[in-house]
Amino acid sequence: MSTLELREVTKHYSSGAETIKAVDGVSLTVSSGEFVALYGPSGSGKTTLLLLAAGLASPDSGAILFDGRDIGSFSERDSALYRRRDVGFVFQAFHLMPHTSALDNATIKLTGGGYTLREARSKALPWLERVGLAERAEQTPERLSMGERQRVAIARALVNEPRLLLADEPTGNLDSKRSREILALMRDICHERGIPGVVVTHDPDASAFVDRVHTLRDGHLADGIDPELASSSS
Ligand SMILES: Nc1ncnc2c1ncn2[C@@H]1O[C@H](COP(=O)(O)OP(=O)(O)O)[C@@H](O)[C@H]1O
Ligand SMILES: [Mg+2]
Repeated sequence: MSTLELREVTKHYSSGAETIKAVDGVSLTVSSGEFVALYGPSGSGKTTLLLLAAGLASPDSGAILFDGRDIGSFSERDSALYRRRDVGFVFQAFHLMPHTSALDNATIKLTGGGYTLREARSKALPWLERVGLAERAEQTPERLSMGERQRVAIARALVNEPRLLLADEPTGNLDSKRSREILALMRDICHERGIPGVVVTHDPDASAFVDRVHTLRDGHLADGIDPELASSSS
């Protein structure tokens, strides 16, 4: 069981004389097995919020707790372990290795974590099956569609059985049918594994495919989808 909790988290960036409040006093709890979508316009702080939760950025104030432990108080070693072992992060731009099969792309965290290639492949293959890509396992990313590449990135994030799933606009390049399939797939995985998940989405109808939706606007979090934003995006 694992829970992600953000308490009054603020993250500012300064650019010249200006201060940008990327995340401004956000409190959010995502419990075990809960899959939450973040919706909001470009520049509203969505990526920053995920990076903070992943331990890839530090808040200026507030706290981020995982399993009740403040990740800001972790030693360097525990912080590295948190990022590598506990967090599964699906990046917006996939970051797949070219000229490398889908299967070997999916094994990367395992081969870097002490498994032999053979062991890593046998652990990764069920994840490619889970995301519906078993038959494409030997294809390189160049030969995969955007949706298939996205599925590889999701499998790669999950192979080492992380305790938190974070995904930054994983469906940005997909049509709405495929994007909803991906949302539902990630939701089912969070439910099955009892892990919290947060996904950034542009789909104003995402609520049907996730457990909860929040809207981020100018760094502020609100419940549900802001109807004004939803009507302007479609
Ligand atoms: N490294 C950075 N340095 C300065 N400003 C940044 C940096 N990262 C993000 N920002 C600013 O913070 C705000 C939120 O950005 P971001 O979290 O990327 O939003 P989103 O993912 O919702 O588009 C934006 O105004 C962006 O320009
Ligand atoms: Mg972003």
